[in-house]
Amino acid sequence: MTDSLRPLVAGNWKMNGSRAMTRDLLVSLGAALDGAGGAPCEIVVCPPAPYLADAARALASIPGIALGAQDCHAAASGAHTGDIAAGMLADLGCLYTIVGHSERRGDHGEASATVKAKAAAAIAAGLGAIVCVGETGADRAAGRTEAVVSEQLDGSLPDGAGAESCVIAYEPVWAIGTGQTPTPAEIGEVHASIRARLDRHLACGVRILYGGSVKPENAAAILAIAHVGGALVGGASLDADAFWSICRSCP
Ligand code: 13P
Repeated sequence: MTDSLRPLVAGNWKMNGSRAMTRDLLVSLGAALDGAGGAPCEIVVCPPAPYLADAARALASIPGIALGAQDCHAAASGAHTGDIAAGMLADLGCLYTIVGHSERRGDHGEASATVKAKAAAAIAAGLGAIVCVGETGADRAAGRTEAVVSEQLDGSLPDGAGAESCVIAYEPVWAIGTGQTPTPAEIGEVHASIRARLDRHLACGVRILYGGSVKPENAAAILAIAHVGGALVGGASLDADAFWSICRSCP
């Protein structure tokens, strides 16, 4: 970790959990935080939208953990049945929202232009936008990792994005939920190229998270890589002990 802001560890619960699980998990995380006398890094949890209000209530007494959403719409309001505006998320107490996760790019056909509009809407609503990029296994096999990631970055980053408003998450699609991860050298290579690209956008100091099969066993090694400013955690964020252990692995 060579970047200036505090490391950030975000838990993306995806479409998992229940109201009871939301309360239980946050109570357990709160107890761990109390026991440790504070947070070892910036911690964000991103439950499914129906549980955000429950999570906001639980987090009211846990100041060391912030609330995030998993997506938002690009418009501030209007005729968009089933969608959620960034302002509504801010109103609920969210500080962040993920945009452009590969599961949304894939399942919902979201192109980088859409992701950019969503990120801009999130920032306009006062949220931090966690913008996801990452290559598929086929991209990597074809030697196109850097090209694909650069293209997504250029297309998804809103104008004027800065370290306070924006976080990048590099998530190789083939590493998500598979137990496979790139080698530390491969992660370092992509993060360095993202850092160089961000400097060209004048988005200096933006944190670059790594995501894809981050577990307690590999977290310390991943979080120690240059330009890795934290982690975006899927499966392991559904278990309080595992997620806390990853948070504690921050350098
Ligand atoms: P896993 O940690 O389950 O691989 O998921 C990563 C991810 O997609 C986080 O957004």
